Amino acid sequence: MQTAESINQLYRDAWSKFATGVTVITTVEPSGSVHGMTASSVTSVSLEPALMLVVIGEERQSHGLIEATGRFGMSILHVGQAHIAKHFAAPPESRGSIDPKHISTLSKSPVIRDSIASMDCSVIAGHKTGDHTVFIGEIEAIRVDDGAPLVWLERQFGGFLSENLQQH
Ligand SMILES: Cc1cc2nc3c(=O)[nH]c(=O)nc-3n(C[C@H](O)[C@H](O)[C@H](O)COP(=O)(O)O)c2cc1C
Repeated sequence: MQTAESINQLYRDAWSKFATGVTVITTVEPSGSVHGMTASSVTSVSLEPALMLVVIGEERQSHGLIEATGRFGMSILHVGQAHIAKHFAAPPESRGSIDPKHISTLSKSPVIRDSIASMDCSVIAGHKTGDHTVFIGEIEAIRVDDGAPLVWLERQFGGFLSENLQQH
């Protein structure tokens, strides 16, 4: 029988084998400043209507901001944007401010400029489960661009290269 501690460590190790893209979830603080959080627990949910989900730890600042504003932006990063992913993965009190040149707006939400795709979402549901909340967002605007995605695997950033992929 495995102990709770060994399951917890093996759970982390197992998910580190699952290659994902890397996104930044963006929200707006009460002051009007843009807030971001690096997130890989995102997925598409429904085509009609267009829905996506993001899973956010309840202790994250982004969690409260999404609850308060009812919206978020989601940007899929390209392979040259690992520095942006690292910035928004650091604890908010130690990360400093992002260069505003990396931020743009898509409809009603801030997004990451030059990301390979971005969406503006309105929250239609939040399901608290364990220590995270699954936020379901209805997509109100989308932008798609060319470029190779940033990939997260075994706790490292890398790239996925293919002859057929248009480089950013
Ligand atoms: C590649 C990567 C993916 C991450 N994905 C998530 C995620 O899906 N959900 C989450 O709650 N935290 C995730 N994190 C951790 C947050 O980015 C990190 O805790 C961040 O500091 C939270 O910022 P906030 O407190 O300003 O919202 C991820 C971190 C990395 C490096």
